[in-house]
Amino acid sequence: MTRHFLKDDDITAEEQAAIIDRAIAMKADRFSEKPFSGPQTVAVIFDKTSTRTRVSFAVGIADLGGVPLIIDSGVSQLGKKESVADTAKVLERQVAQIVWRTYAQAGLDEMAANSSVPVINALSDMWHPCQLLADLVTIKECFGKTAGLTIAYVGDANNNMANSYLVACALAGMNVAIGAPQGFLPTEAVVDRARKIAATNGGKILITTDPAEAVAGADVVVTDTWVSMGMEAEAEERKAQFDGFTVDENLMSNAGQGAIFLHCLPAYRGFEVSGEVIDGPQSRVWQEAENRLHAQKALMAWLAEQN
Ligand code: CP
Ligand code: NVA
Repeated sequence: MTRHFLKDDDITAEEQAAIIDRAIAMKADRFSEKPFSGPQTVAVIFDKTSTRTRVSFAVGIADLGGVPLIIDSGVSQLGKKESVADTAKVLERQVAQIVWRTYAQAGLDEMAANSSVPVINALSDMWHPCQLLADLVTIKECFGKTAGLTIAYVGDANNNMANSYLVACALAGMNVAIGAPQGFLPTEAVVDRARKIAATNGGKILITTDPAEAVAGADVVVTDTWVSMGMEAEAEERKAQFDGFTVDENLMSNAGQGAIFLHCLPAYRGFEVSGEVIDGPQSRVWQEAENRLHAQKALMAWLAEQN
């Protein structure tokens, strides 16, 4: 069975920990592993815009001895002109792995079902698991561990980032607190899944509509845009509903001593986060952005060994 990485819990807690440690080791010795020597090619497909994901996969595949083939779906046959299944059958015969940023999770499931090479989710409407590997690498670098720490996510919790924080951080043995307005809370299905994972890995899940309660005592405070890709038409209507949910210095003062701030980026200063926080001393966002490279290299090297 081909291993894929379509969502955060497609790997076990032990595998997640090994990938995080491998990323930290690869960061210290950047060109040490060449699983794509040949060079083999890795397809990286984008249905949505990107800066970090595009750069970090392209650079990471090259670092691993391979060649990145970046495909913007708008100029390919994928989508309206050719099915996902037919695309997978063409790609699997030529590339070593397939990385895809898309809308519906079902598309990734279909790509994986038709591909004998690993498929990696580079963000869907449902999950952003590569970002979470980078965040966990950053947390481990900052605190020397993940288990037992508390992460607080404030803002739109009915999106890919909140879902991934719930599941991936629970898998890492962390406590996860979510603070979001009514109407922007995570679905019951995702919360139940995170609670089950937390129960076996030692963490707790808190869901609240009070941002100060969510952040209280947290080691890591995170947020994300209030308007995810694909929701641009609702931007003004959505922004009006997040009054009091900006991560600013006042909200950060509720967090624990030595708390850090993370954001997957791109950030909208003055909306989900204030300039003082994202550009201030607690912010680790540039380290986090760099860690996309190291985390994804470790993931791709690990997947290359599984298949
Ligand atoms: N965080 C993240 O995925 O950034 P991009 O949208 O720029 O890839
Ligand atoms: N929730 C955001 C994440 C961007 C990296 C989006 O989907 O647009």
